[in-house]
Amino acid sequence: MKPVRKAVLPVAGIGTRFLPATKAVPKEMLPLVDKPLIEYAIAEAREAGIEEFIIVTGKNKPAIRSHFEPDQRLENLLREAGKEDLLHYASPAYKNLTFVEQPGPYGLGHAIWWTRHLVGDEPFAVLLPDDVIMSKKPCIGELISVHNERGGNVIALEQVAPESAHLYGIVETTSHSERHMEISNIVEKPVLGTAPSNLGIVGRYILHPDVMENLERDSRLPNTEIQLTNAIVASGKSKGTHGVLISGRRFDCGTKRGYLSATIAFALE
Ligand code: UTP
Repeated sequence: MKPVRKAVLPVAGIGTRFLPATKAVPKEMLPLVDKPLIEYAIAEAREAGIEEFIIVTGKNKPAIRSHFEPDQRLENLLREAGKEDLLHYASPAYKNLTFVEQPGPYGLGHAIWWTRHLVGDEPFAVLLPDDVIMSKKPCIGELISVHNERGGNVIALEQVAPESAHLYGIVETTSHSERHMEISNIVEKPVLGTAPSNLGIVGRYILHPDVMENLERDSRLPNTEIQLTNAIVASGKSKGTHGVLISGRRFDCGTKRGYLSATIAFALE
């Protein structure tokens, strides 16, 4: 089995739930204490041993790319001001970041499919940076461990209250231990009272390259948003899809409430 070396970070969404803050500033650039959200996801993946990062930006999101590029002007200004200790912010030592531009907000599945030539024929991690996870061990590392043992697809899960289930992708499971389960189906945003379980998907995945083929098939359907969950369910039929109950605390920073909770929790930390 090939190791998980690459991570895809889709950041091309419109961020409607956080308007007007996200009109000019991409959601993933909102600061959590002193770092933009996207840096937390990259740090988590790096700690788990990921070597290459593929960032899917939207057409109007130059700020994300600028954030990671060296800034000679800022470097000069910091030198002139005698603030050498801050120089690493001007020219961050980020290696192996590749940016691809999604042509339009055609859905999470489309954003991932758009990276297929860079991902190639190997398993890969997906991190949605607006889900920030506070934990001792990197959450994506827990998923990589399960993938190393069992292969297939691996999805991070958390328990959700019945009244919040309609906000999540909810999984249907066949076998279940305390923290690990086999997933047979995923229902996107179920109508109140119809959720197949209380386990909702968190924005961390390890995906088998087979998922790209299923996304490719969906991309030929006219006028449909390409759903990632459909492609995972289809891939899971032959490759298996495993769920892992996360051990850390997840904050949905795509919502004002989640973002505010995360700000307080990280600031106190
Ligand atoms: P969301 O469902 O949170 O959508 O996307 P969004 O547009 O970012 O935010 P809202 O719902 O309008 O408030 C989940 C993840 O998928 C990425 C987003 O950037 C986010 O990381 N995404 C979504 C894309 O990269 N491209 C898309 O076409 C859609």
